[in-house]
Amino acid sequence: MMKIGLIGYGYWGPNLARNFNQNPDLELSYICDFSQDRLKAASVMYKQTKFVNDPEALFKDKDLDAIAVATPVSTHFDLAKRALESGKDVWLEKPMTEKVEQAEELIELAEKNKRLLHVDHTFVYTGAVRKIKELIDKGELGDLIYYDSTRVNLGLFQQDVDVIWDLAPHDISIMDYLMPFKKMAVSATGSKFYGNGIVPKALLTIYMENNVVGHINVSWVSPVKIRQTLIGGTAKMVLYDDNQPSEKIKVYDKGVQLFETKEDLYHLKVQYRVGDMWAPKVSDHEALGLQTKHFVECLKTRQKPLTDGKAGLEVVKILVASQKSLKGRGVPVELA
Ligand SMILES: NC(=O)c1ccc[n+]([C@@H]2O[C@H](COP(=O)([O-])OP(=O)(O)OC[C@H]3O[C@@H](n4cnc5c(N)ncnc54)[C@H](O)[C@@H]3O)[C@@H](O)[C@H]2O)c1
Repeated sequence: MMKIGLIGYGYWGPNLARNFNQNPDLELSYICDFSQDRLKAASVMYKQTKFVNDPEALFKDKDLDAIAVATPVSTHFDLAKRALESGKDVWLEKPMTEKVEQAEELIELAEKNKRLLHVDHTFVYTGAVRKIKELIDKGELGDLIYYDSTRVNLGLFQQDVDVIWDLAPHDISIMDYLMPFKKMAVSATGSKFYGNGIVPKALLTIYMENNVVGHINVSWVSPVKIRQTLIGGTAKMVLYDDNQPSEKIKVYDKGVQLFETKEDLYHLKVQYRVGDMWAPKVSDHEALGLQTKHFVECLKTRQKPLTDGKAGLEVVKILVASQKSLKGRGVPVELA
């Protein structure tokens, strides 16, 4: 049995606690939260767990193997740093950190101390995203040309971060997993129209190598909830609709081809291919369950997690560049 402690039992923490508790190889030794009310809520669920207000209790416990951090992003760096310095393996919520340098420092520290640094990019562990990855790896879609996602709904308005930091990490992490191409530049637009200094609606454009483009539309102020992603390939295209209870993925044998004709060398002829559509079977496992299983496997074998610090850093780089571009009304920001 590996022992894990959880810091942060707000909105997301309870999902982690439940999945850690359900894993037969994990013991949920601690739940830590500033809030006494949150600890009270947790104590009803977990009888064998210790409940503390101060994270130091976790850092100091020599028997504790790993620490999960599910607190607001502004606290991620300090808590993860202390955990790594105390010799613990770390599960860190998305987005990994507020700054690129902080993410880089955590990666370095984890490597120096030979500790795991796992970042919770939940969607990478869903049946739907796994299926799309399988189709891409088999070459079904041909060459990838675009990623186009819409993640909009009404709420949960955050008080301290723009919508980009709340919702876009999901899409950026899915995109990076499916399209592990070099990201060249980012342009982002949005507005603080409620006067509270927070951007509740934004559009990101991510320029990747080989002319591949990503468009990510995120909003807390949409009257309807849309969770749709289109992944374009030269051979086939995929529609991933996360709101659908079944048939979340549809593969379209559709495409566009441009070619020169003998008669008219100066104009390219456009030909559309309109073929069949099919909906492959998608596993309906809980993503956090699979992710916990993978984390435990990494704890045992010391292999690097699929969504490690480097994957977390990629997301932070794009978020930071987007924030900068947003201030300049969409001026592209080059990614180093
Ligand atoms: N992976 C996902 O799909 C997903 C979904 C939602 C949220 N998240 C991430 O989870 C993290 C937490 O989000 P949330 O919505 O649960 O936030 P929240 O504000 O609802 O909960 C955070 C909790 O942490 C506690 N806390 C804050 N700082 C603390 C500290 N230093 N020590 C102890 N307790 C502390 C607060 O009292 C609160 O109960 C964020 O990074 C967020 O981006 C991830």
